[in-house]
Amino acid sequence: MTPVPLILDMDFGIDDSMALLYLVGSGRAEIVAVGTVHGNTSAVQAARNARQLLHVMRLGTVPVARGEAGPWNQDVHYAAEVHGNDGVGGMASIDEPPGTIAEESAAEQIVRLARERPGELVLLATGPLSNVGRAFELEPHLDTLLRAIVVMGGAVAVPGNMTPHAEANIRHDPEAAERVFCAARNLILVPLDITMSCRITDVEMRRINGAPSSPSTDLVRAMLPQYLDFNARDLGVVGFPLHDPTAAVLALDPLAADYLEAAVQVEVEGTLTRGMTCVDRRPAPVASARPTVRIAMQPRRSLVEEFVRTAFEHPAGAG
Ligand code: BDR
Ligand code: CA
Repeated sequence: MTPVPLILDMDFGIDDSMALLYLVGSGRAEIVAVGTVHGNTSAVQAARNARQLLHVMRLGTVPVARGEAGPWNQDVHYAAEVHGNDGVGGMASIDEPPGTIAEESAAEQIVRLARERPGELVLLATGPLSNVGRAFELEPHLDTLLRAIVVMGGAVAVPGNMTPHAEANIRHDPEAAERVFCAARNLILVPLDITMSCRITDVEMRRINGAPSSPSTDLVRAMLPQYLDFNARDLGVVGFPLHDPTAAVLALDPLAADYLEAAVQVEVEGTLTRGMTCVDRRPAPVASARPTVRIAMQPRRSLVEEFVRTAFEHPAGAG
């Protein structure tokens, strides 16, 4: 199978790291470049986290570009309570990881690569959409230059996770997200509706803990206690939902989910609902001038099983 060439745009937290572990473990992804963004941690720390993980995967030559340091229209906020102060549960290396930082910004990198390889690349965004929105400002036809844009974010028919109505990636930069939903004609959205149903339980945790050792699996496994602690406190359950890894699975195989097709509008005004992803789900929705988004609502097979096997138990090619 020909590998899917991917640009990753991530706020390199714990589940972003799991997503990269899955992608490399699949042997079906070509990681063309990485961009980082504020969100789980700062864009600078996210770039360190990316380089650290890429290095142990022997992918240290993959270019890493720093992106937007904060949201377009609100103060920056890092999810330290979820991912730890360094974004990776205390596992960030003290020394500067090997590998260089690109001179261009993450948005410039997206646009340059999309122009160099028109129609080929999939952009997988698992953080706030500040860089992707900026890339659309630089290249309004960005969507036509990319094979697909896959975004982890939003909550359509389920509650939010950062606020009662908003999911974290969208709530961290509602204006940028709104810019993307207005422009992108080839967007696959992977909201909480599907990611909350793809959950690692104590059964899978035992499998993950018993899986073979390698530099990359060991590094990501060591991040998990922070994520487990947060989810136990927050959701009162053993385990955690697979947010970014689910988006990674769908970036390689969009046929692995059932979709709702609808326009998405982000609430940017509401005091209670800022960052909410609004979708008209009535039987006869009002026609919208906005692009239709393919919204993943449920998996068609066990993506949890696929993730555990591919990322931890039988990875191909990871270091
Ligand atoms: C999203 O928010 C971040 O904390 C995670 O990395 C994921 O991308 C889930 O709402
Ligand atoms: Ca993320």
